[in-house]
Amino acid sequence: MAKMWAGRFQKETDTLVNDFNSSIMFDCRLYREDIQGSMAHAIMLAKQGIISDEDRENIIRGLQSILRDFDEGRIELSPEKYEDIHMAVEQLLTERIGDAGKRLHTARSRNDQVAVDMRLYVRSEITEICLLTLQFMHTLTRKAKENIHTVMPGYTHLQRAQPITFAHHLMAYTHMLERDLHRLASCRRLMNECPLGSGALAGTTYPIDREETADALGFDFPMANSLDGVSDRDYCIELCSDLSILMMHLSRLSEEVVAWCSWEFKFVELDDAYSTGSSIMPQKKNPDVCELIRGKTGRVYGSLITLLTLMKGLPLAYNKDMQEDKIAVFDAIDTAKMCLRVFTPMFDTMTVLPENMKRAAYRGFINATDCADYLTKKGVPFRDAYKATGTLVARCIELDTTLDALPIEEYKVVSEKFEEDIYQAIDLMACVAERRSHGGPAPEIVSHEIEEMEKMIIEVRAALEQNMQEGTDEA
Ligand code: ARG
Repeated sequence: MAKMWAGRFQKETDTLVNDFNSSIMFDCRLYREDIQGSMAHAIMLAKQGIISDEDRENIIRGLQSILRDFDEGRIELSPEKYEDIHMAVEQLLTERIGDAGKRLHTARSRNDQVAVDMRLYVRSEITEICLLTLQFMHTLTRKAKENIHTVMPGYTHLQRAQPITFAHHLMAYTHMLERDLHRLASCRRLMNECPLGSGALAGTTYPIDREETADALGFDFPMANSLDGVSDRDYCIELCSDLSILMMHLSRLSEEVVAWCSWEFKFVELDDAYSTGSSIMPQKKNPDVCELIRGKTGRVYGSLITLLTLMKGLPLAYNKDMQEDKIAVFDAIDTAKMCLRVFTPMFDTMTVLPENMKRAAYRGFINATDCADYLTKKGVPFRDAYKATGTLVARCIELDTTLDALPIEEYKVVSEKFEEDIYQAIDLMACVAERRSHGGPAPEIVSHEIEEMEKMIIEVRAALEQNMQEGTDEA
């Protein structure tokens, strides 16, 4: 197959180089964006009198038929046939409509074309990822709502520390994910400028209208510098960075679920549909989904490092190295989406075991701080109260009991200030209920937190869906 750029060359490309150079097998997923960009370009060219209205009509009709054929899987792709998606669309167009197809590339280069395609693609994927994240946040919030009174130990150093509720624990993740949404929205805002019209690197002598194409494609403005236009991949790096942080959050929660499923904790039980067995050990029910999410997080970090490394030594403007950006970006997007898609129903169908959480809460002296606070409220300086409580804990360990079951006489040995009401003060549910400080685990505080989160989820989802309908994909 003769190359589109064959004019200057006397020999055919080496077959190996041809395969090496071709990106069609992975950038074919940009066909829709490529056609969308070409349509906006053709309409602008005709408006500016650079091509005729007749050519424009033929081009648009031709592109529509190519889009349909791509959608219906009728286009066969191979590196022998096509170098990349941009060449493929142009070649197909020219086969279908003749000379008008050859005019489409006037005042344009593949360098600004690929830049615009990627921005359109990333922009709509950001919206999808935000919607999937919201879906997961909704599930977390719902589970939290069911567990406002489910007492569990809160941990530091994976040692039982202070009493919280399962709702409080889950809500922490919703706030982490909320920040992920903000980061993605900010990435989208920053990248929403149009590189089309940057040409190969130095703009063009044709009287193009960049405002017009930027507007038609839903961008805020044309990019201000043509060199930057064709060589900027900041938004790809930023997206992978945002996705890395999002995955890190999913991975931390996955790690917790893995622990919670173990016999050592048994705080939750995964639904059969979301766990797997062992080929040799009949008793096993493994949290493979969580482990895979934890593992795939590394893969998304890999994409981020790929892109940072790819870009760090590149002089302005376009360099072929940049063709590799797609593999990293596509993989990060696919991975994050898949993880969100599978984590949500897994979490939704998970059974919470409140009795086990409570049992663990009773065995860990997690009301020791509350015991010290009891003395402090009776005028004992906190340090002395801390020491007295430490002595009580040591005594409990000696007697193999808990603070709740330790007789009042034992308390009195340590401090005369202890009265019968100590047992109410260190009652686990009371300890949680008393933690009413802003952001604390008390049921009334967490209920309010949940209400606010529910409102936010509804508002953001409605905004995303409306903008998707309007086709502006605004996040
Ligand atoms: N397939 C190329 C890429 O993805 C398109 C741009 C090619 N430009 C060039 N000057 N060879 O980067």
